[in-house]
Amino acid sequence: MQPDLLREEIGAFKTLEQFIIEQQGTFDHSSGAFSRLLRDISVAAKLVNWHMRRAGIVDVFGNTGEINVQGEVQQIMDLLAHKEFVRALRRGGECCLIGSEEHSEAIPIRTADSSEGKYIVLLDPLDGSSNIEVNVSVGTIFSIYQLPEGVKEATLESALQPGIKQIGAGYIVYGSSTILVYTTGQGVNGFTLDPSIGEFLLSHPNIRTPKKGGMYSVNEGNYESFARGLKKHIKWMQQENEEEGRPLSTRYIGSFVADFHRNLLKGGLYIYPATQKSPNGKLRLMYEANPLAFIAEQAGGAASTGNSRILEIVPDKLHQRTPVYIGSLDMVRTAQQFLANEHSVDNA
Ligand code: AHG
Ligand code: MN
Ligand code: MN
Repeated sequence: MQPDLLREEIGAFKTLEQFIIEQQGTFDHSSGAFSRLLRDISVAAKLVNWHMRRAGIVDVFGNTGEINVQGEVQQIMDLLAHKEFVRALRRGGECCLIGSEEHSEAIPIRTADSSEGKYIVLLDPLDGSSNIEVNVSVGTIFSIYQLPEGVKEATLESALQPGIKQIGAGYIVYGSSTILVYTTGQGVNGFTLDPSIGEFLLSHPNIRTPKKGGMYSVNEGNYESFARGLKKHIKWMQQENEEEGRPLSTRYIGSFVADFHRNLLKGGLYIYPATQKSPNGKLRLMYEANPLAFIAEQAGGAASTGNSRILEIVPDKLHQRTPVYIGSLDMVRTAQQFLANEHSVDNA
């Protein structure tokens, strides 16, 4: 987008709503219900954005005093974001079940007129929440499934589908600007929120991620408890090799969605591996890893547990975790090769 965009030129940009309507015909879920669901999500995103932009002026910093289902301290903004998304999805009527990081059980949605929505939405309402108080980018991640054929009532079981069954996935980064990126399996598109008109405008059409990038992102503070293969991989990325573009740079924000977004646009590899303390890693499969894996693949990248494709994991819990290696295709493949024989954290 041009920095000196004139008011009338804004009209040249497609809004998210226009884009969704245009896409409807080319997509299985063309009834309009799916479009309305995405609209509901974008409305909640705008409300969360509004809260975020006033943080520090109004009292939304700090924690609620509660420990969430992950055993982590719940921030006030975690809860606010959760409530905005639940409210928007409940009001919209297209969603039958919500799974949220901030709620231990799946939340069934009954509409006032008891007509049932047919979409399941799993979400991390606020990702990177420990960064909020220090003005670092945070985000929202969402994953959408359809209620399986023949299932009348949405329960947790109906939500426990592998990532390959997602019919949509996306994220919002509340960063230097607010951007919503999503896929329905036909490429990846990004929409920047224009605060003056309150609309998401198509700013990043058909995002493709470079096959290889110059950055890797991992919390190296945990280095000692990484698998031997990963330690070797990290050392390899740090070695000088001009021809191969090494050493790489380290970039780690500590907000998965913000790290992912940067790597998606610039090329890079994000890693949250298994460690001795957390043998399944830290990130949650259903509302962190799967949606971003869908987007990574749709943009030409890849997402792996270190030895298998994330999107093929058959889940058995809403809040289950998985190790994550995600980003540029060649970089994910290289990571897998390093791990191939030395992936165990027991012989770290
Ligand atoms: P959340 O704020 O939703 O709990 O997620 C935090 C996650 C993720 O955003 C980030 O990449 C990771 O935790 C950082 O963990 P470390 O502090 O262990 O690096
Ligand atoms: Mn998160
Ligand atoms: Mn979160």
